[in-house]
Amino acid sequence: MNRPAEASGTAMRLGVCYYPEHWPEAQWADDATRMVEAGLSRVRIGEFAWSLIEPEPGTYDWGWLDRAIATLERAGLGVILGTPTATPPKWLVDRMPDMVAIDAEGRPRGFGSRRHYCFSHAGYRAEAVRITQALAHRYGQHPAIVAWQTDNEYGCHDTAISYSSAARAAFRVWLVARYDDVATLNAAWGNRFWSMEYRSFAEVDLPNLTVTEANPAHWLAFRRFSSDQVVAFNRAQVEILRANAPGRDVMHNFMGFFTQFDHHDVAADIDVVGWDSYPLGFLDSFRFSPEDKLAYARQGHPDIAAFHHDLYRGCRPDGRWWVAEQQPGPVNWSAHNPAPLPGMVRLWTLEAMAHGAELVSYFRWRQFPQAQEQNHAGLLRPDSVAAPGLAEARAAADDIARLGPAGEPARKVALVFAYDADWITAIQPQGKGLSALWAAFDCYSSMRRMGLDIDIVPSGHSLDGYALCVIPCLPHVPDNLVRELAGFAGQVVIGPRSGSRTAEFAIPPELAPGVLQGLMPIRVTHVESLPPGLIHVGPGWTIERWLDHVEGDATAEFIADDGTVAGWYHGNVRYLAAWPGGALTDAVLGRATADARLEWHALPEGLRLRRAGSRTFAFNYSARAVELPDSVGGNVLIGERLLPPAGVCVLDG
Ligand code: GAL
Repeated sequence: MNRPAEASGTAMRLGVCYYPEHWPEAQWADDATRMVEAGLSRVRIGEFAWSLIEPEPGTYDWGWLDRAIATLERAGLGVILGTPTATPPKWLVDRMPDMVAIDAEGRPRGFGSRRHYCFSHAGYRAEAVRITQALAHRYGQHPAIVAWQTDNEYGCHDTAISYSSAARAAFRVWLVARYDDVATLNAAWGNRFWSMEYRSFAEVDLPNLTVTEANPAHWLAFRRFSSDQVVAFNRAQVEILRANAPGRDVMHNFMGFFTQFDHHDVAADIDVVGWDSYPLGFLDSFRFSPEDKLAYARQGHPDIAAFHHDLYRGCRPDGRWWVAEQQPGPVNWSAHNPAPLPGMVRLWTLEAMAHGAELVSYFRWRQFPQAQEQNHAGLLRPDSVAAPGLAEARAAADDIARLGPAGEPARKVALVFAYDADWITAIQPQGKGLSALWAAFDCYSSMRRMGLDIDIVPSGHSLDGYALCVIPCLPHVPDNLVRELAGFAGQVVIGPRSGSRTAEFAIPPELAPGVLQGLMPIRVTHVESLPPGLIHVGPGWTIERWLDHVEGDATAEFIADDGTVAGWYHGNVRYLAAWPGGALTDAVLGRATADARLEWHALPEGLRLRRAGSRTFAFNYSARAVELPDSVGGNVLIGERLLPPAGVCVLDG
């Protein structure tokens, strides 16, 4: 494992995404000087520059990139160099027009923006390898280059899944490897239903463009295949970088609220997990309530960034992660794009530090006055005058210098998340808007409102040291989780639909929760999804959206006024029969927290905590001043106990 300069034990670094190709060369040295003055030590470049690196097929123009890297190096900046495979140039697309991805309606995703490639196209895969090799041969050992980024945001703009003929051919090969003979596939998928049996693998098409829904087992296989194609595409680049750039970290930048491929699988091949944090864009674009969208319009919902920090830290056993792109001001891509409250850029930066980030890199240095993102802020305005984000980056750099290394994030609560859980709930939702990802987010948010420290972990992760394990919604439960839970003495909360499907998308013969019945001796006899307003009312909570009807030997714990059971327990295990979110989830997780003897806090609206080492970080996401409750102790190192809007308070001891 590479653990060079970026590894933990050093204080978090700050960096910026920079596009020297957007600016006159005469400006580069001044830019680099100003970056260093702002407290930045890393600069991420190159990820969209293919047409400038190779303007004609096979003709490379390295001069400008050599000089850009040299300029940044002279200023003392460490460079993170991206492979440019998210933006194949026009000449390449014209040479192999069938390399573009095909959408679910069968339409090609044409040239003129970015990510216009199909992960399964062998010709494009070879081109991606070729340009990566060319870059790695030239810069692999360059002393200024401390890390590499593969491609950019796999799957952005809905591109991880392609319905091309290349994908269909590769899917058939994948099916042969998984099922060996077509009779096995037919039996596994239940294809005798609706006469869907195949006589050979060559008869299997992709699951789009069917009259009504395709077989969910077919979809799940295709989702797994599509994810594996992303993994293989990434791995091809990683292998080249490993061979040619020894001692440098390899990173990829993931996105927010995105599950189109298995991020745990991609993370296994890289050194450090990056992710791109746009709290205001995500609040506006995703399914937050109108009240939250307004209350947090300039701050972002208090759990958006934290949820992803903890999710991506959990993707690697060594927990190495970065914010590869940090929102510095208004973005351009959501339906509404407000400016952050003054102080939020600093707050977001320090929240990443509290969750163990090694680097926060702002997107971007200077707002480019042309093309698609001309209304997207940078740390500088297009006229090179400082935008508000620059002073906040500088302020965060000063805070980091005062605090030094953050210390290890605390190990208290493990929340289990798997990507195929979200695929299964998307393929067969059974009710509108019921997604495993959002079940995880809502459980996370509930516990964060209690001031708990949460790790989001994959199913194979050791549960040693945790007091509470929460499984919000895990339809397919892998054996490694069953084994881990069997030896776990802490409290467990299992959410609805968990253990309700086999690996091949069938109801298990013993009924849900299937392989979890060793822990929780119940059978889910039938399930219901509930339309808005159809609720069961309990004392201070309601059953909404979903109900697992249960028989067996567990004890009813949460009982609605009409006798409907919302939650069960057996020993140290609880089962939540309703959809996560709202007061019922708060009540169930609150009970489990108390039984786990975890310290919790009654936090005012919008206040959040995170412990790292001996420090407690407190963040005020609300638009008014809030006071830290007396239950939060320690000597104030930064800020004050009365936190202004966007305020941060760091305590020790
Ligand atoms: C990210 C992307 C960047 C830039 C940014 C704008 O998704 O990686 O290249 O487009 O969004 O917010």
